[in-house]
Amino acid sequence: MRILLSLLLAVALPVGAQPYTPETAPESLKAPVKRALDAFQDLKSRLLGRLGQALQEGGPVLAIEVCREEAPRLTTGAVGFPLGRTSHRLRNPDNVTPKWAQSYLDRFASQPAEKAPTWVVPLEGRVGVIAPLATQALCLQCHGDPRAMSAELRSSLERLYPTDRATGFELGQLRGVIWAEVPFASP
Ligand code: HEC
Repeated sequence: MRILLSLLLAVALPVGAQPYTPETAPESLKAPVKRALDAFQDLKSRLLGRLGQALQEGGPVLAIEVCREEAPRLTTGAVGFPLGRTSHRLRNPDNVTPKWAQSYLDRFASQPAEKAPTWVVPLEGRVGVIAPLATQALCLQCHGDPRAMSAELRSSLERLYPTDRATGFELGQLRGVIWAEVPFASP
């Protein structure tokens, strides 16, 4: 059994395909990796800013719009390369996990977000970069225990996301990831 298991693991993660981190990435990947990390920083701070503001002004039901409308607008279109958010427990099934990112989710989904690294994955003509998104206190309003949500918020989420799997998260858990695919040559 143990041999079978390690064989399976070896197939899932061939040694040659071990991802890098931004620190261990070869020099040739540093520039595209930096573009991805800058874009992550930008998206995270803008989304957090907009979310915080919307939560204060209109409460979680209205703030849903920030996640629905603004997050996609702040992703691919804004940076000129594919960029997105995904998760092992999706709220919106359109936030599909890129194939190369699946092993990251498999490996870190059940670990505290602070243990999850940033990975750099060389791909054909481009580089994949993926970083953890931790469940912070603010996130719990819409991703925490549904029993703590108002009936209005619960029914809005049920209506908009009938297959929602993104509730029941706890502080510090990995809520999901942010990922990018940056071409080697500048566009
Ligand atoms: C006001 C409610 C609300 C808050 C607060 C909120 N989210 Fe979300 N979140 C949503 C909604 C709605 C979606 C679905 C967006 C869409 O349709 O793409 C979503 C989607 C996501 C996704 C994309 C993957 C998926 O499940 O579809 C991630 C990752 C995510 N949220 C992380 C976070 C994190 C991290 C925080 C805290 C910093 C947070 N969210 C706070 C409502 C919220």
